Amino acid sequence: MSELLDRTRAVLPSWLAIYYEDPIEITHGEGRHVWDSDGQCYLDFFGGILTTMTAHALPEVTKAVAEQAGKIIHSSTLYLNRPMVELAEQIATVSEIPDAKVFLTTSGTEANDAALLLASSLRRSNQVLALRNSYHGRSFSTIAITGNRSWSPTSLSPFQTYYVHGGQQYRSPYAGLSDGEYIAACVADLREILDHAGGDIAAFIAEPIQGVGGFTSGPDGLLGAFAEVLREHGILWISDEVQTGWGRTGEHFWGWQAHGATPDIVTFAKGVGNGLSMGGVIAPAPIMDSLGANSISTSARRSSATSAARA
Ligand SMILES: Cc1ncc(COP(=O)(O)O)c(C=O)c1O
Repeated sequence: MSELLDRTRAVLPSWLAIYYEDPIEITHGEGRHVWDSDGQCYLDFFGGILTTMTAHALPEVTKAVAEQAGKIIHSSTLYLNRPMVELAEQIATVSEIPDAKVFLTTSGTEANDAALLLASSLRRSNQVLALRNSYHGRSFSTIAITGNRSWSPTSLSPFQTYYVHGGQQYRSPYAGLSDGEYIAACVADLREILDHAGGDIAAFIAEPIQGVGGFTSGPDGLLGAFAEVLREHGILWISDEVQTGWGRTGEHFWGWQAHGATPDIVTFAKGVGNGLSMGGVIAPAPIMDSLGANSISTSARRSSATSAARA
């Protein structure tokens, strides 16, 4: 075992999987290549975990990051922030979500957490529909909607989650059906769950293409067919675009666009930051603004505004 592997095992959790019998230490990258500590060069087909969307060490990105670091790294949403507003405006414009507002987070996990918070608060329900074999992140709430057991290490949960068919067409009990028949069978499964669930369900969350689940999907149009049923019940559709957003499916800018209906909420991360910690949620203003609590009360806002003015 290498000295760094020994130290990794000693200080980091045992449940962090590390690839290869002789794990490699990636020290730097350039363009589409990365190098390990032995000087071996690799063509990077993985891009971190599907995250490095532009390139490694792209000069214009490095320059922009360095320039910002030279100005200020951190302030807060308590103050106006021009780059944050400009990015949110651009994301709202390309989102195709009507009357879109954007909440920026530091990861895809946190984006899904925020989407679940919005949906469960608005619908006053902790019941969620997800796809079998799904992956939505590593926090307590997102592992509770992750059907892929190897990434969901506890059954303790803030949600009651129902898993529906549809994530993989070729290894499901419905394999062998035509696309139309497969969609009809999945919709029937969804309707049956809704008949038996009892109570209101807050949201349905799905990756348009399941990434961690093995790069599988249902046929185009499946999620649109689900959306018709969900709307009958007022259930919000959250499209997890953490892997599929920003044109990375090749055919569409968002994964949901292959399905003929628009989701209520979109979550994103990975490619948008090219490896910097960034994610977010997009939702129409009535959904985004529905949370009752504020991070700062009106009186506190008034008094902090006064102290800022005095400083
Ligand atoms: C579909 C999907 N959702 C959410 C996440 C979690 O994103 P993050 O690792 O940025 O927390 C991932 C990460 O792989 C993902 O693939």
